[in-house]
Amino acid sequence: MKTVIKNIAELIQTEESPRKWVAGKDMSKINTIKDAFVEVENGIITLFGSMEEWEGIEDWNNTEIIDAEGGMVFPTYCDSHTHLVFAASRESEFVDRINGLSYSEIAHKGGGILNSAEKLQNTSEDELYEDSLVRLNELVQMGTGAIEIKSGYGLTIESEIKMLRVIKRLKENTEVTIKATFLGAHAIPKEYKDNKEGYMDLVINEMLPIVASEKLADFVDIFCEKGYFTVNDTIRLIKAASKLGIPSKTHVNQFNSIGGVKASVDLGALSVDHLEEMSSVDYEALKGSNCMPTILPSCSFFLGIPFSQAAKMIDEGLPVALASDYNPGSTPSGNMNFVASLGCIQLKMTPEQVINATTINTAYAMGVEKELGSICIGKKANLYITKPIPSYAYLPYSFGQNHIRKVIINGRLQ
Ligand code: NIG
Ligand code: FE
Repeated sequence: MKTVIKNIAELIQTEESPRKWVAGKDMSKINTIKDAFVEVENGIITLFGSMEEWEGIEDWNNTEIIDAEGGMVFPTYCDSHTHLVFAASRESEFVDRINGLSYSEIAHKGGGILNSAEKLQNTSEDELYEDSLVRLNELVQMGTGAIEIKSGYGLTIESEIKMLRVIKRLKENTEVTIKATFLGAHAIPKEYKDNKEGYMDLVINEMLPIVASEKLADFVDIFCEKGYFTVNDTIRLIKAASKLGIPSKTHVNQFNSIGGVKASVDLGALSVDHLEEMSSVDYEALKGSNCMPTILPSCSFFLGIPFSQAAKMIDEGLPVALASDYNPGSTPSGNMNFVASLGCIQLKMTPEQVINATTINTAYAMGVEKELGSICIGKKANLYITKPIPSYAYLPYSFGQNHIRKVIINGRLQ
């Protein structure tokens, strides 16, 4: 049966045919249709246009009608960078930071990623799955219709695989489009404190082959940063994964620019994420490449570290994607509406740039740009309907408020 969403005050981010991404000056443009409808069949967008056109089309008797009642319709957010699967919150570290400790000082004391890993190793797969499912459903109600989820809190063969199995179950049991990323190289476990090479061997020679043979990951990732993994480790991992046919996305330049951007780009990474600290070498590497620079403003907000230079990247002609980085340590929120507000308020991006950065460009950064990220015939009907709002700029403007009334994933109301 067909479904038609009618009486849409403004249909946002329409596209005639799917684009790869939106870059530079084009990021300031979006297409919209006022007083519009969208038709959906078998979970796919089959038609959209103005209400005037719709009324003249055909007999809609056999059609389920959803009345948007003057709200706007957007494509759902694609969140291309999250650590949604975790065992426990870490608000005691949050309090430690209020009391003056830095993120790296907390990590040195055994907090941080190692703290999350210890808790996850002692949590069952079922419990992790149930908790992650609750979080995922909360995000869907806030407008997220596609999400990338990383491992990286296991740090042992058994627990990394456990995390990836949880992600696989989320893929199988929910409507949301999910991509899984193997992030075994997220931190150096205590047992390997003085033997980082030994841990890299474990990741590359033991974990990665299992991940590949069980088809548990769409991507690999590594935290390329002083005190974590080096540029050489990054090169080694990306090359090993490519041999197994797994593309990469990397955590780079969160605290220091050490060459991870160029290494990732040169080896064909799909995205480089964080980018709080950028050098001219990093910009040059990105120009003309197929790699999506991905900014995580909620992480800067929460940790009080510098915000990435989105406006400069756009001025340089690059595309920019904005994702949440949802995780218990540096970003305990996966709310993409808040990411959009920070995009405007802190990164000085316009609402149009933010819409492109959280839909089409994040879709590219998780390899789903042909099926998601815009209102386009043939793409998945993953949409949200807002309450009546005065303009699309109202959404990022009224930060922290919820204006989403209904979410539709694969054509079905959630
Ligand atoms: O993307 N930077 C590395 N990983 C996460 C934080 C992980 C944590 O603190 O638990 C991030 O910010
Ligand atoms: Fe992250």
